[in-house]
Amino acid sequence: MKMFCIGNWKMNPTTAKEAFRLGENIAEKASSCPQVITVLCPPFPFLAHLSSLSFALGGQDCFLEQKGAYTGEVSPLMLKDQGCKYVILGHSERGESDEVVQKKIRAAVRSGLTPVICIGEEKPSSPKFLHKRLHSRLQDIPATVLLKSLLVYEPVWAISTTKGGKPATQEAVALAISAFRDFLVKEAGERVGFAIPILYGGSVDKKNINIFLKAGAQGVLVGGASLKSKEFTALIAEMELHAQTV
Ligand code: PGA
Repeated sequence: MKMFCIGNWKMNPTTAKEAFRLGENIAEKASSCPQVITVLCPPFPFLAHLSSLSFALGGQDCFLEQKGAYTGEVSPLMLKDQGCKYVILGHSERGESDEVVQKKIRAAVRSGLTPVICIGEEKPSSPKFLHKRLHSRLQDIPATVLLKSLLVYEPVWAISTTKGGKPATQEAVALAISAFRDFLVKEAGERVGFAIPILYGGSVDKKNINIFLKAGAQGVLVGGASLKSKEFTALIAEMELHAQTV
């Protein structure tokens, strides 16, 4: 089973030179771990600088239309043209409505990108609450589009830069993943429901990654630790080992 190790650099680093150096330090490990799909999502201005390196590229967001008079926006077609295969959508730091995220998901898939859809909660909740969140975030998204997407359980309270943020426990992640899976199977049927990878995001590092993998996550969305090449390459290596045992 392929695993996904997705690094979200957020608004870091500040120069193309640093971005390239970090990318180079990650690329070698990425290319020696065939069971792991390593994806880096740098800020838009650095995409072209990283496109020659051996990992997949993703955008941190895209606009909900493909072109037109939308000052400051970045089209999913432009991301595709820059070599992106993936795009993170609905990250909690962007504070977007479900309706906007749904339009972006459709535009991304129409443009040939794989959406990495973030779905979380403000405080630890229950499977019932997660079903509600999934329902409002994915309302009216057809199974054909879901099938081309990755979902991320991304509790806001677990993000490293959230005040007091600490990683979720193995039990919490296992419970959330099974709530996600139940929802998908109920909404889209078994074939689609079991095919969609479910990832975890929130304070992942090399010391705790195994608990999320054991909880059933098919990958991780990593913020802070993706900016340290030693830490991030250790995550890729752990995932490669895990992938060989499942
Ligand atoms: P973190 O970020 O790994 O720094 O907690 C994760 C995220 O924002 O998804």
